[in-house]
Amino acid sequence: MKIIVTGGAGFIGSNFIFHMLGEHPDYRIICLDKLTYAGNLSTLESVMDNPNFRFVKADICDKAAVEKLFEEETPDIVVNFAAESHVDRSIENPQIFLETNIIGTSVLMDACRKYGIKRYHQVSTDEVYGDLPLDRPDLFFTETTPIHTSSPYSSSKAGADLLVLAYYRTFGLPVTISRCSNNYGPYHFPEKLIPLMIANCLNDKPLPVYGEGLNVRDWLYVEDHCRAIDLIIHNGRVGEVYNVGGHNEMKNIDIVKLICEYLGKPESLIVHVEDRKGHDMRYAIDPTKIHNELGWLPETKFADGIKKTIDWYLANREWWENIISGDYQNYYENMYSKRVSEGTK
Ligand code: NAD
Ligand code: TYD
Repeated sequence: MKIIVTGGAGFIGSNFIFHMLGEHPDYRIICLDKLTYAGNLSTLESVMDNPNFRFVKADICDKAAVEKLFEEETPDIVVNFAAESHVDRSIENPQIFLETNIIGTSVLMDACRKYGIKRYHQVSTDEVYGDLPLDRPDLFFTETTPIHTSSPYSSSKAGADLLVLAYYRTFGLPVTISRCSNNYGPYHFPEKLIPLMIANCLNDKPLPVYGEGLNVRDWLYVEDHCRAIDLIIHNGRVGEVYNVGGHNEMKNIDIVKLICEYLGKPESLIVHVEDRKGHDMRYAIDPTKIHNELGWLPETKFADGIKKTIDWYLANREWWENIISGDYQNYYENMYSKRVSEGTK
């Protein structure tokens, strides 16, 4: 089996590559990644010499480069992780989200149609369903919950999902989609909540909580997500959407306090800053379909997963320090200096 994994130099894609090379040592895995600010070749260092692995630097929007790779590799499966993935950046600059997340998806699927493929899998997000109210803990997203997006990021992911389902209906392309809740674990880029708070805590820097920090996310350990995608591409039904979630709902503020406690840092580092525009209140996935059809359940409890994650950031300081010492500093200044001054007014 030959699988093209796009976006494999990012957080979830790299974990998926490690998972697949470990679980299916006879598979050939080809990573196609543009190496944007979020892609990091050092993440893939441990597999670069594996004869069953190949890395190709390319943009999923580049039709010629994508077609060249299909001609060279004749893949059986494409798993598309490549995306612009950060909500705050999409609020600053939506354009690139539309290009990569929508146009890139269509370029990949056109190549799948042209060269033939056993499966095209789109890695999507629970954010396409919008949010749920905090006072209705009985409500969960199912696969039939209407698409109702809040941010340019989630809108671009929803646009891609609709296109994927259209390629199934119109062209018969054998597609599947997974819509996952918030992942956490090793190699998570430090602009996102959990790694940002860990890195700031370790550097005794302020911990910027948006608004009151009461927003709820449903956290899933990244390895559990990778297992789910492995099951879907092998046994999932073509044309179907599968929700993947952890039943692990946590308020942002509680996560930040937990990180402080584990690292022995004072909660006085927490600063409430200006809220995100259009900030979704609560995400919560109902994973009944993937459980009933494919036997999937999350295996890592949040209490264990968060400790494993913090320990990983402690043991791999060089990985994230390299990131936050570069261009990321400009991003951080831009994003947070205005938030703190407005948040503390
Ligand atoms: P990430 O930002 O860490 O990584 C994205 C990767 O895609 C990077 O390696 C980047 O270089 C690459 N990339 C970006 N634009 C590209 C392009 N035009 N061509 C080729 N490569 C490109 O993202 P992530 O957190 O690993 O998310 C992976 C996927 O999972 C995304 O599609 C995201 O929408 C989805 N998702 C993420 C989460 C989460 O909690 N992180 C939850 C649900 C769904
Ligand atoms: P994030 O990791 O960006 O994921 P998403 O927005 O896709 O859920 O943010 C998770 C939550 O944490 C979200 O409610 C926004 C909040 N947040 C903060 O409070 N402070 C921060 O510095 C960041 C990055 C996020």
